[in-house]
Amino acid sequence: MKKKLVYSIFALAFLISAFLMFFYGQNTFYVKKETSTTEPKYDYHFVLIPEEEDNEYWRQVEKGARDAAEKQGVYLEYIGPKRANLNDHVRVFDKEIAGKVDGIMVQGLSNEAFTPLINKAVEKGTSIITIDTDLPESRRDVYVGTDNYMAGFMAGKAFIEDTKGEQMVGIVIGRNDAIHQQLRVEGFKEAVKNELRIKIVGMKESNISKTGAVQATYDLLKENPNITAFYGTSALDGVGIAQVIRTMRPYSDPYVITFDTLPETIQLLEAEEIDAIVVQHPYEMGYTAVNMLVELKKGNHPEKIQHTPTSIIRKNDLNQFLQKHIQENNK
Ligand code: BGC
Repeated sequence: MKKKLVYSIFALAFLISAFLMFFYGQNTFYVKKETSTTEPKYDYHFVLIPEEEDNEYWRQVEKGARDAAEKQGVYLEYIGPKRANLNDHVRVFDKEIAGKVDGIMVQGLSNEAFTPLINKAVEKGTSIITIDTDLPESRRDVYVGTDNYMAGFMAGKAFIEDTKGEQMVGIVIGRNDAIHQQLRVEGFKEAVKNELRIKIVGMKESNISKTGAVQATYDLLKENPNITAFYGTSALDGVGIAQVIRTMRPYSDPYVITFDTLPETIQLLEAEEIDAIVVQHPYEMGYTAVNMLVELKKGNHPEKIQHTPTSIIRKNDLNQFLQKHIQENNK
């Protein structure tokens, strides 16, 4: 009888410990599969194709596009050539069209290379926004960006206002083959055409890079040592121009007007190595372009041409400009 009781106690203890082992063991070793309820849901897939992936100007366009995409439930891809190059650009664009995404934001850099692709995309149901550079001959849905001819014209007018006497101008153009760069030069020429004191003595290409702008400025100065002013038509040209003047002509003070308020260019304006900047709004371009694509996808018909503002700033305007900029960034 006593034996039976002992066996029963042992059996019970065994069962309890087995149960506890099973219960706690399972809780210890069982890894619960994550079933997240916060996975983002996207309504549309858009692509932004920059002229050059790591260009600071395009990173600002991207930032604007990402902010709008986040608000609108858009999956945004940013993909483009590593270095500015027409063939690579067209290749990326063609590949994205084949991917049948909902919308693409791309520059209309040249009629021959881009119009057939834009039209093909639109036929396939992909909405197209030309951004930064328009191609009005194509079937693009909307253009969002600077009025490039007007921006060049404003640069020319600013140059007339800021200078006196005979001026020999060297132009550093971002790319000879890009429509917006050509328009910026045409607008400038138109503005100064009746000023007999102003002559354009040469033009060289920077291929939108700083090293390219350095080389272009060097060549211009070698061929035309009498240059008194420079006009740079893309975002990194001013930095390259200033660098060459600093080293090759340290005692001269040519007038420099260029595009875009990237931080280094702003510093050079502050340091009086650059005299005036044509202000574009790349963040706003990206932001508006994404919103317009959403409108198109919803079946709405936004304005076909949406120019972002353009203005000229000089050193005197810097404080006000920076304050406004900070306020906008804190919005
Ligand atoms: C132009 C862009 C260009 C960039 C290059 C800007 O002024 O608007 O099209 O890609 O310069 O740095």
